[in-house]
Amino acid sequence: MATVARSLDIPFSAEDFDRVAALAHDRIGLHLEAHKRDLVYGRLAKRLRKLGLSSFKAYFDLLADANGEVEEGELLSLLTTNVTHFFREQHHFEQMRDDIFPRLIKHAQSGQRVRLWSAGCSQGQEAYSLALTIKELCPNAAQLDIRILATDVDPKVLKFGFRGQYPEAELDGIPKRLRQIGTTKPKGGFFEIEPTTRSLVTFGELNLVKPWPTRGSFDVIFCRNVAIYFDKQTQEKLWMRFAKQLRAGAQLVVGHSERVTGPATAFLSNDGVTSYRKSDAKTHDDIDKTGRNK
Ligand SMILES: C[S@@+](CC[C@H](N)C(=O)[O-])C[C@H]1O[C@@H](n2cnc3c(N)ncnc32)[C@H](O)[C@@H]1O
Repeated sequence: MATVARSLDIPFSAEDFDRVAALAHDRIGLHLEAHKRDLVYGRLAKRLRKLGLSSFKAYFDLLADANGEVEEGELLSLLTTNVTHFFREQHHFEQMRDDIFPRLIKHAQSGQRVRLWSAGCSQGQEAYSLALTIKELCPNAAQLDIRILATDVDPKVLKFGFRGQYPEAELDGIPKRLRQIGTTKPKGGFFEIEPTTRSLVTFGELNLVKPWPTRGSFDVIFCRNVAIYFDKQTQEKLWMRFAKQLRAGAQLVVGHSERVTGPATAFLSNDGVTSYRKSDAKTHDDIDKTGRNK
């Protein structure tokens, strides 16, 4: 059995890596290429040591036993990248503030439903950045039918979002004027998202590569820095599923190194930097006439 590196205290063969990669692909769509072996080993060897295991065979046995599901969750959590911060790729929030939200807020003020989705939200900073942007434009947003759904496959990161509490240092990422309207004074090294801003966001667990519970249509979907970890086929399926989930004239926003490709390009056209508009309605009026809020 060929080991990847001789000096490893827990041997990690090419077959072991392939087995981990196949599981990650099957469960969450993660595409682990061979050059990620050392990274994967580094993350998993730590876990094995913590569990007192000296071989990957023992670890795979653990994954296959009755409580394997719990450990599988730990494994997948170790393999995903959760890096995020408030107002990451700020230009997207500027586009929302200047071009997209004023129209949506008008809809909400006339009694219509507005739905946003932060898909692959990690610890929730992306969803709260959307909420803060809305709150600035519409101080009473919490009283309107505006909701932001924030989902991730990893329940560990979602806990931060539920809590709505972040280290004080992260305040630096929030524009000062938004800090004043949407966050509490830091206490004990943490600040909180102000309750009415927080109430705009609902967190939930959702795996993007498995069936989704039936949900209504969305006005805006942010799915940034998530599909980059999927292979092309999985990405193209996801773009198509998002296209179906968007209302006519709605917006899909992806990460800086992601692009919509494949069949979904028939429905989504470029509208800003890594931002796409679902293009099957000509004007906002047409959208309303076609029953946008049904
Ligand atoms: C790098 S973070 C991106 C966070 C945020 N969207 C941003 O751009 O700052 C990627 C997130 O995608 C999540 N993720 C990975 N695979 C997923 C899947 N199949 N379904 C849902 N979320 C997934 C990870 O758990 C992680 O929190």
